[in-house]
This record gives sequence, C-alpha cells and structure tokens, in this order.
Amino acid sequence: MGQIETVLQRFQTNTRDNLLPILQEIQQETGFLSEEAIIKVSGYLKIPTSKIYAVATFYDQFRFTPRAKYRIKICSGTACHITGAENILSQLEKRLNIKAGETSKDAMVSLEISQCIGACGLAPVILVNDTFYAVVTAEKIDEIVDFVKGTSGN
Ligand code: FES
Repeated sequence: MGQIETVLQRFQTNTRDNLLPILQEIQQETGFLSEEAIIKVSGYLKIPTSKIYAVATFYDQFRFTPRAKYRIKICSGTACHITGAENILSQLEKRLNIKAGETSKDAMVSLEISQCIGACGLAPVILVNDTFYAVVTAEKIDEIVDFVKGTSGN
C-alpha cells in the first residue's frame, strides 16, 4: 500500500470535514501534494479535484512541488543588499542554473529570497536549510555549490 492510501485509511469516515487534515497528513508523509495525491483524495472524499486545488491553494502551508533537499535562502534586507546580496544571488543562479523561486529538476536545490533574518551585522548572509552562513564571499558560495552538486551525483 502506498503512502497516500495509508493516510486515507487512517480516516475512517470519508466526510468532507476531513479534507484539510488529510491534505496535511499527506504533505507530512510525502513532502508535498502531488497530482496523484489530489486525484486519490478526490476519489476518496468524492470532491472534484478543482475544488481540492481551490482549497489547498488558499492555504500557504501546502506545496505542490517536491521540497528540495538543499533550500538556499538569500537575505535581501538592506544590510545584505548593500554588502552584495545581488552578486551572491546571480552567482548562485548561474552556477545552479535556476532562478530565485525555482527548484532544480532533480529536487536537489531550491533558491529563495528572504526578508531580513536579523543578522545584519554579519551581512551578507544566507541559509542552507537550517545552517547559517555569515559574511559570505564568492569563494564560500563556490564551496557551497560544489558541496550541493557533489551530493547530487552530477
Ligand atoms: S539585512 Fe540581511 S540579515 Fe538583516
């Protein structure tokens, strides 16, 4: 039995009230809401897929693409901006071949811009998952990209 079926089985009553908890559990188990998941939930609860998408997109908590293994966030607050966040972003975009807001096709890495993360004295800063990098330089970015690419097997 697949992960989605296992989640559905936990909800004995297939009433519409269970839509949100079911979507939350599926995302928790699989990391995102795939098209396959939406179709299965639609069949189980007898709710059209269009309605499920309408509900799910209303809430920020749901993702429709897999979460990247390495999520890189670049701070774009004033201090980071002044100290070169833009150059860091373009270096990352070039080397990873994705733009801000995108995830690589193999779901290894995603790039995001964030607001000030409260470490302005250490600008420019980036986060890779929960790891914080302060006063990042072009060399440091190269090292991070080499590491990410090295673990993807490319
Ligand atoms: S501006 Fe980047 S941490 Fe505050």
